[in-house]
Amino acid sequence: MADNKPTSKTYTLASGDKMPAIGLGTWQSAKDGSCQAAVEAALAAGYRYIDTALAYGNEHEVGAGVKAAGIPREQLWITTKLDNPWHKRVGEGIDTSLKNLGTDYVDLYLMHWPSSTRPDDLKKHYDDWNFIDTWREMQKLVGSGKVRNIGVSNFGITNLEKLLNHPDTKIKPSVNQIELHPNNPSPKLVAYCKDKGIHVTGYSCLGSTGSPLYKDPVVLSIAEAKGKTPQQCLLQWGIQNGWDVIPKSVTKERIEANFALDGWSLTDEEVHKLSNLKDRRKVCGDAWLPVKVFFGDDE
Ligand SMILES: NC(=O)c1ccc[n+]([C@@H]2O[C@H](COP(=O)([O-])OP(=O)(O)OC[C@H]3O[C@@H](n4cnc5c(N)ncnc54)[C@H](OP(=O)(O)O)[C@@H]3O)[C@@H](O)[C@H]2O)c1
Repeated sequence: MADNKPTSKTYTLASGDKMPAIGLGTWQSAKDGSCQAAVEAALAAGYRYIDTALAYGNEHEVGAGVKAAGIPREQLWITTKLDNPWHKRVGEGIDTSLKNLGTDYVDLYLMHWPSSTRPDDLKKHYDDWNFIDTWREMQKLVGSGKVRNIGVSNFGITNLEKLLNHPDTKIKPSVNQIELHPNNPSPKLVAYCKDKGIHVTGYSCLGSTGSPLYKDPVVLSIAEAKGKTPQQCLLQWGIQNGWDVIPKSVTKERIEANFALDGWSLTDEEVHKLSNLKDRRKVCGDAWLPVKVFFGDDE
């Protein structure tokens, strides 16, 4: 692992762009200055990748943190996402995010969920619009200079098949950002994406807020054997499995510790053990959406 440091490791997307293996997540990072401070702490620690979303309401703090850090824009990777009630307003959505972030372009623009939710009633889906229509609009952004890559998030195999097989799909999603941690390892979906040449980003990579993984006996025994924290082992597991990880923290010491992944690795046996925990738990389901998006095809 010495000449392949996780912190300088990148994944090459279909466009040829190189996406870092570890970024800072920002879902639930408070808009009271905490999100900005977290971004500044991450960039000072060496992170060069921030994951945010219009729906998180903190893009302006991400932008302020990036500005304060003063790192040249071309050295950074910024991912943001089109919010569900904005599916009919893709152009307005990206312009709003760029303005919030204070940047001319994002490296990756994701459709946050395959749900074209009506802005006037979040419990309803449009009758005359779906994610294929949204993707058609997102494709128009490529070449505009506003986005370097487009992708999707929370797509299971059923919806990916629909998207990939549609005649209007001219650009394949470069990334599918999905929930991935040892309580939700989704090997079939990961293998499907790999087969289709779609890079995977693992979200809730630590198991999210109140993660039971921090007390899991298998995780703890591996962490003890390595002399590492449970969180470092969970992140290393994701990177060694081939996806990038985006741990969220607003705590400076944790942000720094989560980035200390160089110079050691998990053995194949340890990776296997983490991939085969007995407990299964999914943090982000689809019950809150007006349409079902998972059909048992995200396992
Ligand atoms: N595309 C999607 O639909 C989607 C959905 C969910 C998440 N995401 C993205 O993925 C990112 C990560 O997922 P997540 O926010 O659900 O959760 P996560 O990164 O799995 O876990 C975050 C939680 O772990 C804590 N934590 C972080 N590092 C720690 C450490 N070293 N020791 C102890 N606790 C630690 C954080 O606390 P503190 O902050 O208090 O330190 C926070 O409570 C999100 O922030 C977001 O960017 C995307």
